[in-house]
Amino acid sequence: MNKKVYVGMSADLLHPGHINILKIASGYGDVIVGLLTDQAIASYKRLPYMTFEQRKSVVENIKGVKEVIAQETLDYRANLEKIKPDFVVHGNDWKNGVQSKTREQVIETISKWGGVLIEPEYTDGISSTLLNKALKEIGTTPDIRRKALRRLIDARPVVRIMEAHSALSGLIVENIVGDNGVYYDGMWSSSLTDSTSKGKPDIEAVDITSRTNTLNEIFEVTTKPMIYDADTGGIAEHFVYTVRTLERLGVSAVIIEDKIGLKKNSLFGNDVVQSQDSIENFSDKIQMGKRAKITDEFMIIARIESLILDKGMDDAVNRAKAYIKAGADGIMIHSRKKEPDEILQFCKILREHNNSIPIVVVPTSFNQITATQLSKAGVNIVIYANHMLRAAYPGMKNVAKSILDNDRSLETEKDLLSIKEILDLIPGTR
Ligand code: SPV
Ligand code: MG
Repeated sequence: MNKKVYVGMSADLLHPGHINILKIASGYGDVIVGLLTDQAIASYKRLPYMTFEQRKSVVENIKGVKEVIAQETLDYRANLEKIKPDFVVHGNDWKNGVQSKTREQVIETISKWGGVLIEPEYTDGISSTLLNKALKEIGTTPDIRRKALRRLIDARPVVRIMEAHSALSGLIVENIVGDNGVYYDGMWSSSLTDSTSKGKPDIEAVDITSRTNTLNEIFEVTTKPMIYDADTGGIAEHFVYTVRTLERLGVSAVIIEDKIGLKKNSLFGNDVVQSQDSIENFSDKIQMGKRAKITDEFMIIARIESLILDKGMDDAVNRAKAYIKAGADGIMIHSRKKEPDEILQFCKILREHNNSIPIVVVPTSFNQITATQLSKAGVNIVIYANHMLRAAYPGMKNVAKSILDNDRSLETEKDLLSIKEILDLIPGTR
């Protein structure tokens, strides 16, 4: 019987480095590729461009590959124990850094049956990280962008979304990475911040043409998926056109809230007059939107305002059940409480009834709870709904005032991006 050789890989953007590894591996025996699932990859870097099935069909057809199986985690051990390969082949670039622990576990596991780790020299000058960067410069298509959100919901414990109201704020969301390597999965087109940045109130006064202009500007320079805040969705006969427009642009999801009449921002609660739609009307609107959409992946998410309007938990839960029945692809539950208790309670009750419907929350006022904690409570998507604009406005206002107060800009220079930095900010400016 031939020897068994195990190679773990993501194989999204295949390059000569992968082919080199597979060629060397096939010199030792029958190559079994442990192909990382979307979930395994998304646990440490961006979602692959190709789906698992697409990647599998590519790798299966590479010379020397005998079999492709799924590797469900970054940890090799479960697959190794199952297959008991004589050899594992991996580029020598994993000796240091985050993967070094995985490497040690591999050595320890295969040594139990005398397996050996082979580590070919890493191929310089090419890597999937470099290719990813190049691909981002090329951009994306509406189809790829639209599909990305559903794939992320399936692949990530929690999807992190940040508000963007301009191309520049979109670029920040696209590129910023936290110290722990975490980044935003996508963007939120907020009615509040899109209206505010146009100097208009958040009362559905900024029309869809103007809102889609903002989307187009953001889409020109970014690749991440977008969730669109469509307020009440307007009257159902108009909402169907909004669905078509957003879908065509490459937006992944639209959220509509179950209010009626002149819309006011939810965070006012009952300080202003706001009315909730009937379950029947709103369910009809969801159904009409569902009938209008063309692609499977576009999502219509129903936003429940019962807690905002003090209508109680039972009302919120009943509405969630009704909207899911009407075909909603997700439920957003909103709250203006400082504590997350009512959100957590809602998630618990809804999850007992339905364990798969995506739940979306917007922790603007209950801002102590982390995305990770919300995820443990059953939340799938966390939206930071207004933070880019709220960060920008005080900065601009203080600088404008300081120049008047000092009759020159010297004093405020320390608060500004330097001229060198702004000239280098956007590639191609030089
Ligand atoms: C928005 O960002 O416009 C929202 C969320 O709808 S909230 O402002 O909290 O209502
Ligand atoms: Mg809004």
